[in-house]
Amino acid sequence: VFDNTLRPIILAAARSERIKDSSQRLNVTRRVVERFVPGETRTDVLTAIRDSLDGGLSVSIDFLGEDTTDESQATATVEAYLELISAMGSLPESGSGAARLEVSLKLTALGQSLPEHGAKIAEENARTIAAAAHEAGVLVTVDAEDHTTVDERLDIVRALRRDFPDVGTVLQAYLRRTEDDCVEFAESGARIRLCKGAYAEPPSVAYPTRALVDESYLRCLRILMKGNGYPMVASHDPVIIDAARATADELDRAPDSWEHQMLYGIRADEQRRLAAEGARVRVYIPYGTEWYGYFVRRLAEKPANLRFFLRSLAG
Ligand code: FDA
Repeated sequence: VFDNTLRPIILAAARSERIKDSSQRLNVTRRVVERFVPGETRTDVLTAIRDSLDGGLSVSIDFLGEDTTDESQATATVEAYLELISAMGSLPESGSGAARLEVSLKLTALGQSLPEHGAKIAEENARTIAAAAHEAGVLVTVDAEDHTTVDERLDIVRALRRDFPDVGTVLQAYLRRTEDDCVEFAESGARIRLCKGAYAEPPSVAYPTRALVDESYLRCLRILMKGNGYPMVASHDPVIIDAARATADELDRAPDSWEHQMLYGIRADEQRRLAAEGARVRVYIPYGTEWYGYFVRRLAEKPANLRFFLRSLAG
């Protein structure tokens, strides 16, 4: 019932401006949000970054925002990233060469969905951020959004990689096209973050069941592990986590040639356990005031999250 009925409704709510406005006003929502988002300010996220680095983890930071329809908001997002990157560049880890610092970008926050020249504006904005990150010793990965944005995003990533080969992107195993995308990016030596996928998608483009998505994930994982790139295994699923280690061992991949990635607030003990065993583990940390869409996608991933949220509203 959760997967087939509730999940699509929750994900539709992720796109509702009306529900977004009332949720952002509710203090009780804010308390539940704190599990997934350490705060709204740069100071909050810098504290979370230092804690994660001290715990042996690498970080990827997302300044929250998506679906911008206002060019000045896209420009403000670029400014926020430049300030964040400058602050990250002052951390001792930025000069270590160990690539422990990364930012994650959403192209729709940088203007991709603007009615005129959206893709061009998003590419220019992403390029400005990539150049600053390169200078500061910070990596960049471009997040994946709904399937209608994929072709443009991958074109932008290909263009950025000509100047900044370290720019990576996310591929979503639930999309039927993704195995082919994995082949291309594995061959070209890209940094690829493989995740299952978090948006409501029609069966014409996405596998409709968890079992099919998991099978696709394992096929994609193998393609990436065999390739020349840097696979980033973004999953909290124990089966996927074990398969990643086993595939890397089987293919003689060095431990520093791929990494695990998980979201802030989810399976934190497992993140630290893997890091303590010597694996590379990166935690994705979002911050900012535009947490609504991100938060609702996390609710849609696990029935217990929704129960917890509804109980906190009731009490
Ligand atoms: P699955 O959903 O099967 O969960 C496995 C187990 O993990 C659960 O049983 C539970 O224990 C735990 N778990 C998972 N989600 C949880 C939650 N919300 N709360 C509590 N426990 C939870 N998606 C996308 O479409 N575009 C993107 O750019 C990204 N980026 C991204 C970056 C990183 C670093 C990660 C880890 C994930 C993403 N995602 C994403 C989200 C991804 O597509 C997917 O929705 C979630 O990671 C959940 O899938 P799992 O692989 O964890 O497995």
